[in-house]
Amino acid sequence: MSTATDEARSAEFLALCAEMLDKRRLIVVSNRGPVEYHVTSEGPLQARRGSGGLVTALSTLTRNIDFTWVASAMGEGDRRALESSEGASIPSTLPGHRFSLRYVTTPRRVYHKYYNILCNPLLWFLQHHMWNASYTPNVDHAVHDAWENGYVTVNRAFADAVVAEAAQSSEPPYVMVHDYHLYLVPGYVRQELPEATIQHYLHIPWPGPSYWQLLPSHMCRSICESLCSADVVGFQTVRDAQSFLATCSLFLPKAEVDFSGGVVNFNGHKTATHAYPLSIDVEEIRRIAISPRASEYKQRLMPLCAEKTIVRVDRAEPNKNIVRGFRAYEHLLERYPELHGKVTFLAFLVPSRTHIRQYQRYLDEIQQVASDINGNYGSSDWQPVHLFLENNYTQAIAALCQYDVLLINAVIDGMNLIAKEGPVVNAKNGVLVLTETVGAYQQLAEGALSVAPTDVEGTTDALYEALTMSEEERAKRQAVLVEAIEREDLLHWLQQQFQDIRGVA
Ligand code: G6P
Repeated sequence: MSTATDEARSAEFLALCAEMLDKRRLIVVSNRGPVEYHVTSEGPLQARRGSGGLVTALSTLTRNIDFTWVASAMGEGDRRALESSEGASIPSTLPGHRFSLRYVTTPRRVYHKYYNILCNPLLWFLQHHMWNASYTPNVDHAVHDAWENGYVTVNRAFADAVVAEAAQSSEPPYVMVHDYHLYLVPGYVRQELPEATIQHYLHIPWPGPSYWQLLPSHMCRSICESLCSADVVGFQTVRDAQSFLATCSLFLPKAEVDFSGGVVNFNGHKTATHAYPLSIDVEEIRRIAISPRASEYKQRLMPLCAEKTIVRVDRAEPNKNIVRGFRAYEHLLERYPELHGKVTFLAFLVPSRTHIRQYQRYLDEIQQVASDINGNYGSSDWQPVHLFLENNYTQAIAALCQYDVLLINAVIDGMNLIAKEGPVVNAKNGVLVLTETVGAYQQLAEGALSVAPTDVEGTTDALYEALTMSEEERAKRQAVLVEAIEREDLLHWLQQQFQDIRGVA
């Protein structure tokens, strides 16, 4: 239930937006858009909410404010929607959402270089420490080509779309760019729109400068230079912001970097850095948790739960450390035979980026280890692991309501919103086992059982401690988690950013 205080905070935020956007336009920019168009056999295109979390994060904006969202036309349906709009913005087809959508379209082979060579295998892997640097990556001709003729090209096309949108008003816009796909956009936009207020928000971690040095320096320089033409660069944690400052000081020797103030001064332009830990819409997720559809899933999952149930919800992504999590569970079953038949592990994994070799291999490995555990320990009336390989958010929320232990052991993660979604819907005072390298750990450490991501032994111990914890201790920890999550919710995340960009404007 929304409280009077929530409503007052929301009204205050919307008043701030109204004041800021009285004369100026807001342009939000991200690779994955808020809507996906699907081609149907019946004829008309079907619009569905996009699968990324950003549309949820920005829902307070999209429901209340008119603005333009610039995003990639990713599939055939998006391209057709763009053709039928004749290149103009498409008004929102999501009920209740007010943005208009401007698609950026690039030839398929250009998009492939950008997304499948540069953004994900290179930048995502770099920023999540997923390389084995003695062997990978090999920045060969194909990667250099993907930078020049994929990443640079798509970033330019995005910047052109922003500039074209901005031309519809005589006042400079507020431009809010998201994530690692679009590092070069602030620089290109700044060249055309010197008066624009530009923010770039990064959802994923920013590693230290020595890791960036593994990449050709011209790539790192271009990324840092572009980000230093934004007015504000937002990160998930203070540590990420400090690593960014250290990276600028290495790659941009002429930059003046003020670590304590969090500011870079480069080419006569000041860029402030801030940590804005991403959060969740607590009310919305609780609404989903009690919906009739979630109740149906709860009924269906009930027979799979044992006396104690461990749950995990993730994209099937190597960085999420799913295999090590299963290994820890396997050791638990080996060490504590008394748990056999009394515990079950429900893993909800959304297949992701399956066209990238490493992701396919990882998915195979996950299935193999789960089947080994079931083969080695299961019996005719007990299956130790249940794998759900599908994108079913409501089902995952239903499972989060019922865990005794929620395992989140990502190697490194920008934030990890499941760590926040779980505790606010869980009805059993379940225990959160959380790796220290996840952004959410900064806010949730006190209520969680913490573990290092490579520590399989430690994870086994943490699972055992969680499964055998007293009810009193569980309740105490749950209350600490819920309080921390409610205190810094999604509205707080938005409010902080808007106050800061209004400050620079
Ligand atoms: C995760 C990250 C986001 C990122 C997205 C890209 O959700 O937290 O920062 O933008 O993945 O996913 P995609 O499916 O669009 O490649």
